[in-house]
Amino acid sequence: MKQARIVGTGSYLPQRVLTNHDLSKMVETSDEWIVSRTGMKERRLAREDEYASSMGTEAARLALKDAGKSSEEIDFILVATLTPDYIFPSTACLIQQELGAKKAAALDLQAACSGYLYALSMAKALIESGISRNVLVIAAEKLSSITDYQDRSTCILFGDGAAAAVVSAEGSGLAIKTVHLGADGEQAELLMLPAGGCRKPASQESLEQRMHYIKMSGNEVFKHAVRRMQEAAKECLEASGVSEEELAWVIPHQANIRILDAIAKRFSHLPANRLYKTLEKYGNTSASSIGIALDEWRKEGLGKTGEKVLLTAFGGGFTWGAALLHYE
Ligand code: UT7
Repeated sequence: MKQARIVGTGSYLPQRVLTNHDLSKMVETSDEWIVSRTGMKERRLAREDEYASSMGTEAARLALKDAGKSSEEIDFILVATLTPDYIFPSTACLIQQELGAKKAAALDLQAACSGYLYALSMAKALIESGISRNVLVIAAEKLSSITDYQDRSTCILFGDGAAAAVVSAEGSGLAIKTVHLGADGEQAELLMLPAGGCRKPASQESLEQRMHYIKMSGNEVFKHAVRRMQEAAKECLEASGVSEEELAWVIPHQANIRILDAIAKRFSHLPANRLYKTLEKYGNTSASSIGIALDEWRKEGLGKTGEKVLLTAFGGGFTWGAALLHYE
């Protein structure tokens, strides 16, 4: 059977930095509160003329270069985003055009913060079924466009950025062994963007009520995130026949340091630095967060041949998932 592998990665972070100190001038908060409750110190903000498509294109170019592939070799582009440039056409089509990936089909998918893992799972299926040879997985978020900078419980968390991976049927890299996904629509309203869709199109009222921004019941979401990421990790490992002790690295969605600490407890055999973190400098970049972390982890040369790596995510929907990668 064919084996899908990540053979190249890239990421893009906008230059502008929003610090905790900056936020403390915008809402009633403090560096001390944000660091102790979230672990975050800074996040990046896209310029007005930077979009999910432009950031995703930059990340994709770097991933293609890393993989040693041209855009013409790509036959499918999957873009995970909850901040697309437009409702339609898809951000994937805009990126396809920018890259000149003329032979690629292009599709957006939306699984909130779990989007990167959902896209990896689709890429794996496309490759291993023989439908595609080279799939470009992209996650790109301009969360600052839907963040309410008057809401101190959410605006401290989110940042902008993009990540990409070339998933291929040939070449060496990170073999995608198992991707385990889940969802529960019953909790949809705990984390959502209420207006702008067909249920509540933009109106004077929706604008006045600030309904085009993320609304989150932080505390509730927190509890679900811990539980679901731990369960997803366990179920993914069980499905793979791999024990927790065999893992060399865990790269989780960068939601909150306290969520990451709770996950770390499950993998108590791992030294603390083997749970890879970027949240201190980038905050929560939703779908992009695991992809950015995976790219930085690779570029730092931290992984070694033969090691097993677990990715785990949770997001709005609710959606969640975990993926087991083998460094080959
Ligand atoms: O990406 C996946 C989805 N998202 C997540 O996984 C996020 C999950 N949730 C969280 O990370 C945390 O719930 C937050 C960081 C959002 C909030 O932390 P918390 O410890 O759950 O705080 P809380 O919501 O229980 O609020 C505690 C207090 C409240 O004040 P009172 O009612 O006790 O007087 C809040 O108003 O903290 C207050 N508060 C703040 N204070 C200073 C909330 N945000 C802030 C703030 N600065 N930025």
